Amino acid sequence: MALADFLQQLEELEQAAVRAFDGAADGDALEAARIEFLGAKSGRLKDVQKGLGQVGKEDRPAAGKRFNEAKLAIETAFESARERVQKNASSTKPAEGYFTAAAVATAHAVGYAPKTLPTPFDPTESPPARRLRVGRLHPITQTILELQEIMGRLGFTVAEGPEVEDEWHNFEALNIPADHVARDPLENFYLATAEAAGGARLLRSQTSTVQIRVMEQQPPPVRIISLGRVYRPDTPDDTHYPMFHQIEGLLVDRHVTMADLKSVLRMFAESYFGGEVHIRFRPSFFPFTEPSVEVDMAWHDRWIEMGGAGMVDPHVLSAVGYDPDEVSGFAFGLGVERICMRRHNITDIREFYKNDVRFLRQF
Ligand code: DAH
Repeated sequence: MALADFLQQLEELEQAAVRAFDGAADGDALEAARIEFLGAKSGRLKDVQKGLGQVGKEDRPAAGKRFNEAKLAIETAFESARERVQKNASSTKPAEGYFTAAAVATAHAVGYAPKTLPTPFDPTESPPARRLRVGRLHPITQTILELQEIMGRLGFTVAEGPEVEDEWHNFEALNIPADHVARDPLENFYLATAEAAGGARLLRSQTSTVQIRVMEQQPPPVRIISLGRVYRPDTPDDTHYPMFHQIEGLLVDRHVTMADLKSVLRMFAESYFGGEVHIRFRPSFFPFTEPSVEVDMAWHDRWIEMGGAGMVDPHVLSAVGYDPDEVSGFAFGLGVERICMRRHNITDIREFYKNDVRFLRQF
């Protein structure tokens, strides 16, 4: 074969191959072109290579050199076409990269053929994770649960009573007679409903009502606490709110003394506040206790009033059918908001009831 013919063949092959590789639109077309031109057994480059042996001996070095150049050019064109096709496959057809070809085919077959399928989820491209904001218990609820837990360890079980009460449980049985100032309609939320067996109905003004309800139901010994809402028509300010919470405690047994009361209150306060808490009793008066005291607690060298306490008045024990000569008891009633405010340095009780999440989220 004449050298000129061989070089002519080579030239045509190179051009055809480069054109085919450059024009391959996707991986399948490129693979077909590869087999046509670079196929190991019957590719067109192989065919041309066979002609090399028929070129005259003296022309062979020149023909071989040109053959190698053409081969390199064709292979280079194939390599760059392959890179281009791969890049296209991953950037313009994400859906097919994410869903299997069969899934895409099925979607189209059943008529689900959106122009673009959903963008595949790429965890490396998603924005930084957002902090999950879950709700939480109200600080007063948290305090109630904690106080119940502490008192539970001291052997007190939780008792409950209704918030709509009658005069018997809120006053009468607690030794608060009809003409007592505490029963003034201006000091209470009386309800304009029919009277109960126990007299007019009202929103309970104190959790001491639960003492009566428990003792009516069971014989001594009694060792309960009760936490819940109480209502008084007070004008809201930083320490008053028309609805607030109390923790009531009652222990009735043989030989109960004020020393027991003081010990229980001290252990209770030390558990809740942590560290050393001093308890101070100041003489006071409550119709349902005798003697009665005002309870102060000192924590971080400051005294604060926590509520009232005392030895259960014999009249109260008799009212529920207990024998005051057989048993004695102590009782206390403390403000839950006050306890919580002291521990967290909250200065305004109204914060609890504004429902401002910026406040509530801190607990
Ligand atoms: N019930 C009283 C009040 O609301 C507090 C209280 C005082 C409760 C003495 C008691 C007690 O159990 O013994 O102000």
